[in-house]
Amino acid sequence: MQESYQQVYAGWKLDPEAFWRKAAQEITWFKQPEHVFSADDGPYGRWFVGGETNTCYNCLDRHVAAGRGSDRAIIYDSPITATKSVFTYDEALEKVNAIAATLRQYGIAKGDRVIIYMPMVPEAILSMLACARIGAVHSVVFGGFAANELAARIDDSAAKLIITASCGLEPGRVVAYKPLVDQAIATASLKPRHCLVLQRAPLAAELNPLRDLDFEVAVARNRGAKVECVPVKATDPLYILYTSGTTGQPKGVVRDNGGHMVALHWSMGNIYGIRPGEVFWAASDIGWVVGHSYIVYAPLLAGATTVIFEGKPVGTPDAGAFWRVVAEHKVRALFTAPTAFRAIRREDSEGALLKHHAMPDFRALFLAGERADPETLKWAERMLGVPVIDHWWQTETGWPVAANPLGIERLPIKHGSPSVPMPGYEIEILDDAGHPVPSGTLGNIVAKLPLPPGCLPTLWNADERFNSAYLAEFPGYYKTADAGYVDEDGYIFIMSRTDDIINCAGHRLSTGAMEEVCATHPDVAECAVVGIADPVKGQVPCGFLVLKKNVSRETSVIESEVVKLVREEIGPVAAFKTAITIDRLPKTRSGKILRGTMQKIADGLPWKMPATIDDPAVLEEITDALRNRGFGSLPM
Ligand code: COA
Ligand code: AMP
Repeated sequence: MQESYQQVYAGWKLDPEAFWRKAAQEITWFKQPEHVFSADDGPYGRWFVGGETNTCYNCLDRHVAAGRGSDRAIIYDSPITATKSVFTYDEALEKVNAIAATLRQYGIAKGDRVIIYMPMVPEAILSMLACARIGAVHSVVFGGFAANELAARIDDSAAKLIITASCGLEPGRVVAYKPLVDQAIATASLKPRHCLVLQRAPLAAELNPLRDLDFEVAVARNRGAKVECVPVKATDPLYILYTSGTTGQPKGVVRDNGGHMVALHWSMGNIYGIRPGEVFWAASDIGWVVGHSYIVYAPLLAGATTVIFEGKPVGTPDAGAFWRVVAEHKVRALFTAPTAFRAIRREDSEGALLKHHAMPDFRALFLAGERADPETLKWAERMLGVPVIDHWWQTETGWPVAANPLGIERLPIKHGSPSVPMPGYEIEILDDAGHPVPSGTLGNIVAKLPLPPGCLPTLWNADERFNSAYLAEFPGYYKTADAGYVDEDGYIFIMSRTDDIINCAGHRLSTGAMEEVCATHPDVAECAVVGIADPVKGQVPCGFLVLKKNVSRETSVIESEVVKLVREEIGPVAAFKTAITIDRLPKTRSGKILRGTMQKIADGLPWKMPATIDDPAVLEEITDALRNRGFGSLPM
């Protein structure tokens, strides 16, 4: 008989090692692990120590060996280029072998780092798998990041090679990737030796004959090559994914091979309810963790079919694009960010475009990446007539911390809550002094150590930063940096971040990093960036600038320059479009900027005069400045 969620969770809690040992049997190991968990390795322990395996083998070869080579592995659907294609497991394996041979040819060996800076094309997925095949460590960088951000990742990872494309396509705009790569390499202190460039029709890139290679040409030369899957330790890194931290320096989240596969495989069946051969679509980008886990690795580990979609929820060509893809490819479950549904709802609130597409195979919608507002959730439920599952996780965890595990049982849905903790996660709510708070009380959300398989074991070359960022504040726990509460039924509610991170269109951004850039403008003396409410993107950044005393130039000109600067230094993804000049920043008497109060004023929420404020008049000035720019504010 099928176990209930309560039974599965209790079973894990009773004997976590037995739980994960059983889950690990779903993975092919070249050498079985000696220990399911070893507390002696790494900052808080490591999973499946002594085991040897290969992630590419588990994603491709073993399905082919099991006679499923003609099943579909990857569906590429690109409304923006009017292209569609399908790769069977056989075809994907053949292509991955050729890319792996090409990487070898250009000096990439086990443990070397490869940066992948690509749009949403199948070659991006195949390149990730090719790295995994030879034990190289990939680091995918989202295409919306600027050259400077790419340079920081090249230096931190000391990548030997970059795989990129000549261009990406955004609605109404061709994004030339190659000049950004050239600029990043010029800026970086550690220069990659080679650059493989996928030439795409709308814009060919110039190649530097001493360094660059045409991807297609180089890979075609290795067509038919067979590259064995290099055995790697379960604890060896599969990839590094940089994510926003509280400074401009991104954190290099490390993912291992063994624990990652075990956790993702478990999640695919038990959380998403996906079986081999079924189609799963994560409408995200391979540059984010959702893309890594649920466009690439989890569906392929499970022997399912994944969809890589190069388009947007609206505008490619319209707000019916998602329904067309679901209907056409018989998608069973879709995973995206709530912002995508807010965008669709804004354009097609009655779901007129939905009526053009029959979706009898569609079973569930999963939302994550930011708070799912109950209005959007209810709208999606009404339109789709299937369960809409809010679930919560982070780049660091790699798979859901809290969810409604459809593959086990469908629990009652509470709008506004991503439901309950998954096995592996013991969640507690602590006050700032580290004491547990009663149910229903807001506090710091922490997970008891050890974190389960699949979560980051550390940061790339930065154990100390890992300890100080995540483990030091609440000894014995991992700090999620989210604040929220647990109700009397054990449902978790995520309310806000406890650091400077904002979620803009489902993208995780650091306002601290934006402040660092604003402060480099020669006329800016001081600044603060806060996330303010946006009806589609959830939050957008807004910069407050205090100019140097002697500056006489037009403030509007300076504001535009600052906006341009952030776009150039961080990238368009920062969506930093508003900078407002003010006379002074509101501060406490000890000099702390009152960002929370500024945010409340900008959002038109009730706010209280902070008792520690240095000069109350400053907040009135800010209220006026915001009102002049059309941002709502309520009287005190
Ligand atoms: N390469 C280059 N530029 C990119 C890019 C990429 N891969 N992705 C986004 N950008 C650019 C956009 O073109 C835009 O530029 P603009 O300022 O010139 O308009 C800017 O970065 C901001 O992008 P975004 O925040 O995505 O806004 P948008 O208006 O283009 O689209 C949504 C808004 C809601 C439709 C879109 O963000 C979306 O589909 N989000 C949900 C899915 C998702 O990706 N979630 C991520 C985690 S699950
Ligand atoms: P990222 O690392 O980009 O996946 O962003 C992780 C952060 O996004 C979390 O720490 C939360 O702040 C937020 N987040 C993700 N999923 C949810 C959710 N379902 N509800 C509320 N916030 C979420």
